[in-house]
Amino acid sequence: MKTTINEVNKFVGQDVTIGAWVANKRSSGKIAFLQLRDGTGFIQGVVVKTDVPEEVFQKAKSLTQETSIYVTGTVQEDSRSSFGYELLVKDVEVIHEAHDFPITPKEHGTEFLMDHRHLWLRSRRQHAVMKIRNEIIRATYEFFNDNGFTKIDPPILTGSAPEGTTELFHTKYFDEDAYLSQSGQLYMEASAMALGKVFSFGPTFRAEKSKTRRHLIEFWMIEPEMAFYQHEDSLKVQEEYVAHIVQSVLKNCKLELERLGRDTSKLEQVKAPFPRIEYDDALKLLHEKGFNDIEWGDDFGAPHETAIAESFDKPVFITNYPTSLKPFYMQPHPERPEVVLCADLIAPEGYGEIIGGSERIYDYELMKKRIEEHGLGIDAYQWYLELSQYGAVPHSGFGLGLERTVAWISGVEHVRETIPFPRLLNRLYP
Ligand code: 4AD
Ligand code: MG
Repeated sequence: MKTTINEVNKFVGQDVTIGAWVANKRSSGKIAFLQLRDGTGFIQGVVVKTDVPEEVFQKAKSLTQETSIYVTGTVQEDSRSSFGYELLVKDVEVIHEAHDFPITPKEHGTEFLMDHRHLWLRSRRQHAVMKIRNEIIRATYEFFNDNGFTKIDPPILTGSAPEGTTELFHTKYFDEDAYLSQSGQLYMEASAMALGKVFSFGPTFRAEKSKTRRHLIEFWMIEPEMAFYQHEDSLKVQEEYVAHIVQSVLKNCKLELERLGRDTSKLEQVKAPFPRIEYDDALKLLHEKGFNDIEWGDDFGAPHETAIAESFDKPVFITNYPTSLKPFYMQPHPERPEVVLCADLIAPEGYGEIIGGSERIYDYELMKKRIEEHGLGIDAYQWYLELSQYGAVPHSGFGLGLERTVAWISGVEHVRETIPFPRLLNRLYP
């Protein structure tokens, strides 16, 4: 019977054939242990010299790392491994012999691994991170579909810049200028006026010269937008959504979290509601903690966000930032025009901002004024302005950065490991 590693539980005591790669191997005179992987999972194959023809034992002993094989054997329960099963090997057929696979089980430097990302992806650790990323995506679709949202795909090539003009990737669009999307938000706002509650999931691009463990040049964003939702309504969606993805990973990626050595006790606590702290109070908290370099009107950097997050055991919303720090489209606070109705969601354990969101301006005159104040060409925003001319309504939305969320939930230090082929400052290869 041909099967895959993730399905061997259905064949205990039976013989199966699996297409696999040899991730690692140990052998003595009498027994060989093959660490096998097939993409769906990892299993140990045991080859006992006295149980198989001599030729099979010799072949198994000489298998090199990453050689591809068809392996046939009996599925056995194995209480010592966390996977729970092993394969008592009866036969091995080599498909393609690999020589000198560059990524050996010993330690390698980061640059070396990044240069070999196309091969590094095969490692157990990277496999676990990609599975967790996939589970977050699956749970995202589940959450929004179950809550009445429609998936909408905004364009990647655009003529407008929702998050400011300094970080745009410029390209030619025949004779016109075009930019790679920084955020689908403006298109999602138009879509919310057509479909009520919408969400997008797609790549976004920022020509940011930042070299930190939280910044990618190309990253994936989930952007929900909701008509008739005010700021607080949006915060409720955010906390329920984030709790849902964390609880889904805890439930469906146990092996992966264990393989990564993730302390899951902190994740277990991630349930709605999340605490909220106003920018002004966050600033006071920072002053109490000895950050005297920062004053009202300054943006919070990574050390500030980490210090604020340490005061809470769940993700925390920092709300009502100064207007001057935020993009043009955010709705002013009704009693305090110097701040906007917005929130950044800060993940625990130093992972920083994972969501940025706000209520949106829907007054035509104010929107027009803001676009002008921000020096954005009114022509490119004409269509967006028209949204506040025809049945404008209060609405809110947010963007969750997938890679920062994967880093946090997986407990990996740097976002470069949370996307299959990271685009970083000075890295476009492979
Ligand atoms: O806070 P940002 O810039 O918000 C927006 O783009 C809004 N238009 C979203 C919306 O309201 N629809 O980005 C949202 C999130 C951040 O909180 C962060 O998680 C992630 O996107 N992000 C990045 N992730 C990796 N690398 C970068 N360079 C990122 N920039 C933002
Ligand atoms: Mg932000």
